[in-house]
Amino acid sequence: MAGAVVWTLRAPGRAAMEARIDEIGDSTYRLSIHVPEISPPAGFTFNHFLVLGEEPLLFHCGLRKMFPLVSAAVARIIPIERLHWITFGHVEADECGSIDEWLAAAPRAQIAHGVVGCGVSIRDVAARPPRVLADGEVTDIGGKRIRYIDTPHVPHGWDAGVIFEESTGTLFCGDLFTHLGDGPALTEADIVGPAMAAEDSFRFTSLGPTTARTIRDLADLAPRTLAVMHGSSFSGDAAAAPRSLADHYERRLRRALAEQLGT
Ligand SMILES: [Fe+2]
Ligand SMILES: [Fe+2]
Repeated sequence: MAGAVVWTLRAPGRAAMEARIDEIGDSTYRLSIHVPEISPPAGFTFNHFLVLGEEPLLFHCGLRKMFPLVSAAVARIIPIERLHWITFGHVEADECGSIDEWLAAAPRAQIAHGVVGCGVSIRDVAARPPRVLADGEVTDIGGKRIRYIDTPHVPHGWDAGVIFEESTGTLFCGDLFTHLGDGPALTEADIVGPAMAAEDSFRFTSLGPTTARTIRDLADLAPRTLAVMHGSSFSGDAAAAPRSLADHYERRLRRALAEQLGT
């Protein structure tokens, strides 16, 4: 969801951009870049998450243009060469545009993604072959357990998936709950309302018959934190929020069908 907006890392009259680093959970870091030019005046954040363990994991490579900022932020936490796993929600520029920059900077790092993402795109676009993850597969990264979950077309992309870290109960939900602004790294305030406002602006979700059910299945994981790619992460009732989001999408789908069918 980069948006067709021109922006630079160093705009005239503005200080050089830098990723903001926050530890949003045990050994779980949010590396956030706010771009004021996208959807002004609120602007738009791009968040990348570093999960430390014996085999550190990065969720979202980030835009190729952002690699200098995101890699500098990672380097403030661990030497980049220590990075072991790189994964992301789906194949889009903001999720994985810098894939080869990371593979070059971290020679031992391995891209990991679901069957569709690897088969359709990643085997071809990445400099090294990916590790294919089965739906529900758990990877022990040494101190953290990462479960990969297929979420086809939710919120968009045939290859879409999320990860769930079991020890902290953190659901890394990619573009789900996308909202505008440069809010706090972690909030207990409502993020569903802002996400639906962003949906009204961007129409980024592939609304379909499995949208709500897929999101409710994520709620059944009983997450304690939602790590959101665009916007604040959430530490309120993190199981109720996906259910509320699913309800909203279900109502929108019913409304759209009723309009289409004239019922
Ligand atoms: Fe996306
Ligand atoms: Fe995104």
